[in-house]
Amino acid sequence: MYRTHHCGELNANYIGETITLSGWVQKIRDKGSVVWVDLRDRYGITQLIFDEARSNQNLIDKSKTLGREFVVQATGTVIERSSKNPNIPTGDIELLVTDLICLNASKTPPFTIEDETDGGDTLRMQYRYLDIRRNPIRNNLIFRHRIAQLVRNYLSEHDFIEVETPVLIKSTPEGARDFVVPSRMNPGQFYALPQSPQTFKQLLMVGGMDRYFQIVKCFRDEDLRADRQPEFTQIDCEMAFVEQEDILLTFEGLTRHLITSTTGNDPGKFPRMTFSEAMKRYGNDKPDIRFGMAFGELNKFSKHKEFQVFNNSELVVGIAVPKGNELTRKNIDQLTDWVKRPQVGALGMVYVRCLEDGTFKSSVDKFFDQTDLAHWAEITVANAGDLILVLSGESDKVRSQMSALRMEMAERLGLRDPKVFAPLWVVDFPLLEWDDESRRFHAMHHPFTSPKPEHMDLLKSDPGAVNANAYDLVLNGNEIGGGSIRIHDKATQSQMFDLLGFSQEEAEAQFGFLMNAFEFGAPPHGGIAFGLDRLVAILGGQETIREFIAFPKNNNGRDIMIDAPSPIDQNQLNELSLNLK
Ligand code: AMO
Repeated sequence: MYRTHHCGELNANYIGETITLSGWVQKIRDKGSVVWVDLRDRYGITQLIFDEARSNQNLIDKSKTLGREFVVQATGTVIERSSKNPNIPTGDIELLVTDLICLNASKTPPFTIEDETDGGDTLRMQYRYLDIRRNPIRNNLIFRHRIAQLVRNYLSEHDFIEVETPVLIKSTPEGARDFVVPSRMNPGQFYALPQSPQTFKQLLMVGGMDRYFQIVKCFRDEDLRADRQPEFTQIDCEMAFVEQEDILLTFEGLTRHLITSTTGNDPGKFPRMTFSEAMKRYGNDKPDIRFGMAFGELNKFSKHKEFQVFNNSELVVGIAVPKGNELTRKNIDQLTDWVKRPQVGALGMVYVRCLEDGTFKSSVDKFFDQTDLAHWAEITVANAGDLILVLSGESDKVRSQMSALRMEMAERLGLRDPKVFAPLWVVDFPLLEWDDESRRFHAMHHPFTSPKPEHMDLLKSDPGAVNANAYDLVLNGNEIGGGSIRIHDKATQSQMFDLLGFSQEEAEAQFGFLMNAFEFGAPPHGGIAFGLDRLVAILGGQETIREFIAFPKNNNGRDIMIDAPSPIDQNQLNELSLNLK
């Protein structure tokens, strides 16, 4: 038997007992006649003691041959520590070792296996198995497991059935780029890895499964960011005989359960906001509503003077930064430089200080009087002591610039508190978005999303104005889930493909299986998919999903530990009929 107990459980109740532990050497303190070794396993750390007065010399000599990360088995007696450590659960005791076996030696690890490590990202990824020995990563993985477990239990209790869908599927042109897999048995033909199980879950509804879920890997060949990986995990869900309201309530229930169970916070009823309101008030379809600074549109009170910058702008918009008047002129100049960086792209920034006596001092005092500025303060809901920041330009651009500025100010003011959880449903997304490059409409969500019934008539006359029965769930400014009510009849589905620029033949070739299925009694249905990695990261108080994935890819989509992707040999290429030049 390698161990009788683990390294996190011994305390004063065990004093006098003979116990065997196995684990890794965290730290050695050699005081000559006494040697202490911190032994670590998944559960915690227990201090081993080798003491000239009480242990035999051989054992002490042996303890001195150990190094960091050696794997050892130690048997001994639990004794009370003379100097206790109140910071760890085992801090009252130590193990006076009577038998020591070195199970495996270890090279010196390339970075310290401590909560705060000296290893950079690349090194940590290359030796991820060592990184996983560190408390933060291990705890993140355990946290992820807990959430997956909560999801499975909750959905199972609500009659959802987990069904596996295939991983080798068919490439389709919508959405992100596919990862493809060559088929040896069908030369020149390729499978695609699923970007999501979308069509399969719909077919499960046609199959009468009624309530489906799956914790499932999805694959998208897209540019990577802190919240995006090429392979990621969805909590994918679908329900039959439902309307949008049923889905929102069901998954609000799940999300509230997850937030409450893991953080102790009860977020209450989730607020809802339409897409157009989100864009107008926050310049963003995933607003972080943990804090205010909503946009105030100032056109009416800013274009009547000789200030040509505003007069020539489509939109003038301001936010009130709480207590922003504390910023110095230098701070504001730096902020102006920040918004002018190419990543943000504003041409300049106007500011108004809201003084304690109720008057205003602005960078455009030459053009605007106190009455104008009082209007701005009213519209941006600015109080005395606040600072109003104003940007102007073309509407879409200025909204996105102001959104970046709002987030930056929130970050600087510490308003993005990771312990506060502010979910938000964003609803009424447009069905389509126009793409200037390809000069055609693209589905804003995906081509299976149904138009709002009251907008069906607009499909022909003004497709860009059609809203969809689509919704996103936003948590702290991150899109953690998205879904829709689906089209479930062949005629509307083929009309949709038509709008998206598919010929009838293309639609038939790519999605004929789905449209055929719709002719065999497809029930009304809809669903949602959550990004599990994102959800776990945010509930864990972070936004970088990599920290919650056991073996993530780097920003170039590489797994630098196993060195993938990598070339394959000529025989393999030949077998796959891939004649790469
Ligand atoms: P969507 O494309 O919005 O919807 O994806 C659902 C959720 O998955 C997460 N997500 C990602 N997480 C990490 N890395 C990525 N590259 C990545 N891409 C997406 C997001 C997102 O909200 N089939 C539809 C769902 C439906 O209609 O039911 C779908 O896949 O959190």
